[in-house]
Parts: sequence; structure tokens; C-alpha cells
Amino acid sequence: MSKQTVLTGITTTGTPHIGNYLGAIKPAIEASENPAFNSYFFLADFHALIKCQEPDRVARSTREIAATWLALGLDTNKATFYRQTDIPEITELTWILTCQTSKGLMNRAHAYKASVDANREGGKEDLDDGVTMGLFSYPILMAADILMFNADTIPVGKDQVQHIEMARDIAGRFNHQFEPLFTLPQAQVDEETQLIPGLDGRKMSKSYNNTIPLFCSSDELRRLINQIVTDTREPGEPKDPDNTLMHLYRCFATEAESAAMRQRFIDGIGWGAAKTELFEYLDAQLSSPRARYNELMNDLGEVEAVLLKGAERAREYATPFLDKVRHAVGIRSLTDTSSTQQQKVAKEKEKSEEELARAEEGRRRAILMQISPLLEQVKQAEDKTAAAVTLIAEKSAEVEALKKKARQKAQNELDLLKEELAAYL
Ligand code: TRP
Repeated sequence: MSKQTVLTGITTTGTPHIGNYLGAIKPAIEASENPAFNSYFFLADFHALIKCQEPDRVARSTREIAATWLALGLDTNKATFYRQTDIPEITELTWILTCQTSKGLMNRAHAYKASVDANREGGKEDLDDGVTMGLFSYPILMAADILMFNADTIPVGKDQVQHIEMARDIAGRFNHQFEPLFTLPQAQVDEETQLIPGLDGRKMSKSYNNTIPLFCSSDELRRLINQIVTDTREPGEPKDPDNTLMHLYRCFATEAESAAMRQRFIDGIGWGAAKTELFEYLDAQLSSPRARYNELMNDLGEVEAVLLKGAERAREYATPFLDKVRHAVGIRSLTDTSSTQQQKVAKEKEKSEEELARAEEGRRRAILMQISPLLEQVKQAEDKTAAAVTLIAEKSAEVEALKKKARQKAQNELDLLKEELAAYL
């Protein structure tokens, strides 16, 4: 079996914090050490423009995130490490995919819906107020990042799962319409690392302003750890070992060390002493990558060279693959007069059962997305059977009333509705 491709990107709008490290960078670097995987890691700097209009911040964050990956020991001989904007093929693919993406699919994206909801709640007349086309079509750029390298597995946070599903849908549609060129990607969510707590005990996140920068100075690290919120129990009183300090400690320490620390909380270690222990442990672990980070931040030419080399390697895959995609949609040299139709017929014959099944799955998913609000309505209804019967009757009437092509589409929806609602009918 060929190697699985793992791909993930980080948007360059902030300073890497401990949550980014534990949740994304560390597991990615570990995966890249495994020869069973082909890894692609990148700085999503075009994504940064969607939410950040501060050029210096975007540029600084790009430097910091690049240096962070390298300081943490990413081996760029094993993983392909690059900056999104160094791969023009990605932007080109974005347009081709944009032309295959229905607007309705984008209307359902969480980030866009959140803006619309905020406008509605704020009583704005224009529900799209403040929404750029970048924000609206963000999932297509992300789909291009992923599909460009035919990635199989995308390690992401929960908030990104919908985007991976959209990438699947877009790939399925392209494969169906033109040629089955794209692998359908799968999101991978690690539940454990979803919950790295920040200073206030909530999930560590830029938007909560509760982060601990990964490579802040020792003094700053001590100051921040001292700010972690605890309860008012005195030294000597037993403490709940499921607390923020313990959680952070456990993310870095070995199992035996964690068990010992847990016991100390039960035995009543003071919060101050526990904070000192956590600080000393983290500081010891981070001091050598921090020194390397500071070195790299003072030698950005070296980091730039690594990124350019990574881009070259990424393009070795992207350039010929994009050629195939361009050809498939009809963007060709004038002298290339081969006909798609003939190719399609030949390809069709070659198609393995598995590819056909995949295309079929993509088709089903697209329809399911379409009818999911209807299914939801039935599930919410008090009398589900009555709601299901009415819905099927309405859809059947619609099918009857339609002309041939539209009819087939409605028929497909009807078939799946019947299948999905079989339990109630
Ligand atoms: N949108 C992602 C985030 O904000 C970052 C990202 C961009 C990404 N392109 C990607 C992640 C492709 C995985 C795959 O976290």
C-alpha cells in the first residue's frame, strides 16, 4: 500500500502558544517521524489575510510560527514544510475548485454563519455586514490546500472538521464531473489535546486571551503560571487533583511524574508551591528549544531558505498534478486536441470498483447535505411519523411536477429521504 499523506496548516495570525504546541505541532512532528506517513506542514499565510488586516502582525506571526516548528525539531528532510503563498498552484486550484463549489455549501460554513448570526443579533439590516468574500469562500482555499497534495488525513481541531467535510464534498463533485483525480480527505481529531486549559481554566485560545506563549522568557513564563486561577484552599488542605496546574503538568511530564504530582495535590501541596513546580518543569523542558528559537529568530535567512526549499519540494508534486487538473477541466495548450470524452470513456473502463464507490459516496453526501435541514425538521417534530409521511408526500409531488433533469435530482433526494426516514415510515 502506498504511504498515507498527512497534511496540516497553521494560520499565521498569532504567536504560538502552549495549546498550539500540544494540540497541533507536537503530534504533527511525531507523526512525521513515522515512515508510514508522508507529511506536509505549512504556514497558512493566505488564510491570515481573512481575519487580520495588520500586515506587520501577519509577517511577524509567519516568522514566529516558522521558527517554532524548526526549533521544536521538525526534520524538514522527512516532512515537506512550506509557506502556502510560495505555492502558486494552490491559488490556481482554489479558482478551479471555486467554480465547482455551490454557493449553498458555503452558506452553511460555521465561520460565515457566525458572522451572519452576530449581525442578526446586533440588529444589523445587512446580515452580510463585514463579511468579505475571503471569509465566505475560506473553505475553498482550505480545500485547495488539502486536495493539492491528495492528503488522506488532516489532523485538526474540532472547529475545523466541517471544513474537511466540505473539502470532501468539493473533491467528490470534481471527481464526478471531470476525472477522479482527488483523494477524499478525512479529519482526525484528537479529543485529548482539544482541552489544553489556559490561565483561566477554559480552553487555551487566542480568542479567550488566556494563552501562555510557547517561547516567552523564563520570567514571563513564571509570571503567567502564577496567574493561573486556583481555588482558595490553604497549604496542607487536600486539593482536587483535576485542576489546571495538574492538567498542564501532565501534558509535559511522564506518567510516573504525573502520578507523583497528583498525589502531592491530594496530600495538600500549596498552590504556590505547585505553581513553582510546574514552572520549573516547563522551563526545563522548554529551555533548549527556546534557545534554538531565539537563535533562529536572529537568523531568519536560514529559516527563509528552509521554507523555499520546502516549497520547491512541494511544487515537485503540485506542478504536474495541477497540470492534470487543468487538463481535466479543459485548460490546455492549443496544440493539445485530445478529447475529454474519449478519455473519459477509456478512464471509465479503468475505474476500479473502489473509485466508483467513492464517487457514489460523494454523490450521496452532497445530497444528504442538501436534505439535512429536512431530516432535522422531522427529527425535531413531535409526531415524527406524521412529519415523515408529509415530507415524503410533498417531495413525491415535487418529483411529479418536475421536468426530466430536475426530476432526477428530486428523485435522488426522495430516494435518500425514504432511506433515512425508514425507521419512521
Ligand atoms: N483554517 C485552519 C485553522 O484556522 C488552518 C488551515 C488552513 C488548515 N489550511 C488548512 C488546516 C489545511 C488543515 C488543512 O486552523
